Amino acid sequence: MKTLVIVMHSLTGGTRQMAEAAASGAAREPLVSTRLLSASEAGPDDLLSADGYLFATPETLAGIAGLMKDFFDRAYYPTLGRIQGRPYASLICAGSDGHNAARRIARIAAGWRLREIAEPLIVCTRAQTKEAILAPKTIAAADLALCADLGEALAAGLAAGIF
Ligand SMILES: Cc1cc2nc3c(=O)[nH]c(=O)nc-3n(C[C@H](O)[C@H](O)[C@H](O)COP(=O)(O)O)c2cc1C
Repeated sequence: MKTLVIVMHSLTGGTRQMAEAAASGAAREPLVSTRLLSASEAGPDDLLSADGYLFATPETLAGIAGLMKDFFDRAYYPTLGRIQGRPYASLICAGSDGHNAARRIARIAAGWRLREIAEPLIVCTRAQTKEAILAPKTIAAADLALCADLGEALAAGLAAGIF
């Protein structure tokens, strides 16, 4: 049995829906156990005990969300040199961009020597005004399907020993 861990943070629900969709996609693979963790509760042991990773964050202030940064800060050195080669992918929920958050995760993963198995999946909610940014988000079914497919692909690759 392989383990996929999804580490996520969400302020207004968009990233949470994406991460949950990815988890349900991964659950289609019976040989992989999927754990969906909030960034604030996740730590280095969760990475050490998993075989692959999905990192899911909103883009905030042209970067990853603060609690995701806190997770990476806490987990980076305790796991450095112990998880290299493991597969990962990222989910980004953004108002209008998302690429800075994706680049930041890619830099951290490169330091860990993780293997990126897919391009970052960026979903833009088109939230531009203060009111829209602070409102609860509803991610479109088509985008959730892409998240589910990514979760399934990661899990299937783990189960098959491809990654
Ligand atoms: C403080 C703050 C800063 C933000 N900065 C950005 C940004 O730099 N780029 C962007 O595309 N979206 C930005 N957004 C919009 C969020 O990425 C967007 O609302 C997204 O849906 C949040 O994901 P969530 O629903 O999982 O919290 C920002 C939102 C907040 C609250």
